[in-house]
Amino acid sequence: MANVVVIGGQWGDEGKGKVVDLLCPSFEHVVRFNGGNNAGHTVRFADRHFALHLIPSGIIQPTCRCAVGPGVVIDPVGLLAEIRELEAQSISVRTRLLLSSRAHLVMPGHRALDLARETARGAKKIGTTGKGIGPAYETRAGRTGVRLGLVRNEDRFREAVDATNQALGELLRGYDAPAPDPEEVEAAIVAALALAPLVGDVSQVLHDAIATKQAILFEGAQGTFLDIDHGTYPFVTSSGVLAGFAAPACGLPARAIGGVLAVLKAYTTRVGGGPFPTELNDALGEQLRRRGNEFGTTTGRPRRTGWFDAVAARAAVRWNGIDAVALTKLDVLDEVEEIPIATGYRIGGEVTTEVPDDVADLAEADPVYEVMPGWCSSTSGVTDDAELPDAARRYVARLEELLDVPIAMISTGPRREETILRAVPPFSQWFPELFRRKAPR
Ligand code: GDP
Ligand code: IMO
Ligand code: MG
Repeated sequence: MANVVVIGGQWGDEGKGKVVDLLCPSFEHVVRFNGGNNAGHTVRFADRHFALHLIPSGIIQPTCRCAVGPGVVIDPVGLLAEIRELEAQSISVRTRLLLSSRAHLVMPGHRALDLARETARGAKKIGTTGKGIGPAYETRAGRTGVRLGLVRNEDRFREAVDATNQALGELLRGYDAPAPDPEEVEAAIVAALALAPLVGDVSQVLHDAIATKQAILFEGAQGTFLDIDHGTYPFVTSSGVLAGFAAPACGLPARAIGGVLAVLKAYTTRVGGGPFPTELNDALGEQLRRRGNEFGTTTGRPRRTGWFDAVAARAAVRWNGIDAVALTKLDVLDEVEEIPIATGYRIGGEVTTEVPDDVADLAEADPVYEVMPGWCSSTSGVTDDAELPDAARRYVARLEELLDVPIAMISTGPRREETILRAVPPFSQWFPELFRRKAPR
């Protein structure tokens, strides 16, 4: 059984939550390895609906043990609220959730600094989620952060929080912003102390899992083009997002990763600022937003929408080492008569098939499109390849060809059960039980 990393191959919100929920019964452990509660992962089945932010989507599956790794930044107030919300929905959390002692905390001052920085940027703002993620990674790198493990000793913890607050207070003063409110800081301290029973050594647990042949699913947050190094800098998040990052972020050797499954939407969305070559600012863009219910899971903001960008997706294949793709939201294209796919960018008169490393160039990129006929019939809820309209099958086949990676899952609706599974290697080798369950056709 391979340890599989599930990542987003675009700008986030590809449907990672749905895919992780569907696959996690095959794993003993599901681990978040990057980001914080800037993420919003949706899980739906039957009439149930969950929005996960910091807790791995595997928590919905009672057999999975879940962990939040050292590379994640944890907002203690947000996490406690998330735990309570899941418990109110009859999901047992505290017995199955382990939080890394090495993970850094997001405190009220981080959130205040996030907002102060965004305000100061004016029209050039990143459009962050306002969750304090950037500043939390900043104090981590600046060695003034607070690690969750300190909650095991309240005096030392309070001392570290004071030091972080001081560092943040100085930065906030630079923006004429007030120091963090002491009551809010105290509430964060109390919340963090309440998490103490869940704190442990995630790396050790995962090492033991590997030694005893228990399988791990690494649940990525955000998407490839929000990666701090390879994304559309500075319009990115503040952590690594690429699949390979899962291993060091969890204190594991690179060989711990057995496979990479990327989730890609059948079109593209982006929330926040930054270049988006295939963006549609017209009625079709609005149609995709409506049909796809493209509103942020974390902030409720409308997502920007556009066509599938094969130039970007091919770069994502290379950077992540993608072995298989889960293509989501095919049903959202059901009413579109002609579906363009970007296969190149025209920048300053030259056509390139590579993603430029400078956002100014990317902002200028005029996509070169190949246009596929739409199917203009419903694929909503389809669970069998054979039931897809021919034009839909051809669209999927063309994406597969452009990416040179097998599309192993096709999602045709938000619910767990609205999915086509394809017995293509290596996916079928990672999940033999998914195919054994199905009667031979
Ligand atoms: P994540 O951040 O990658 O987990 O994605 P989000 O949960 O933020 O956003 C994906 C949204 O699309 C959620 O509302 C899902 O319920 C929904 N979704 C996922 N797959 C499909 C699909 O195949 N069809 C439709 N219509 N909705 C989907
Ligand atoms: P999931 O895991 C979509 C975007 C923000 C902003 C930029 C920086 O649900 O796919 P940050 O708050 O991280 O400093 O914001 O990154 N962003 C996401 N966009 N999905 C996400 O997560 C995102 N997490 C961050 O909108 O543009
Ligand atoms: Mg999301």
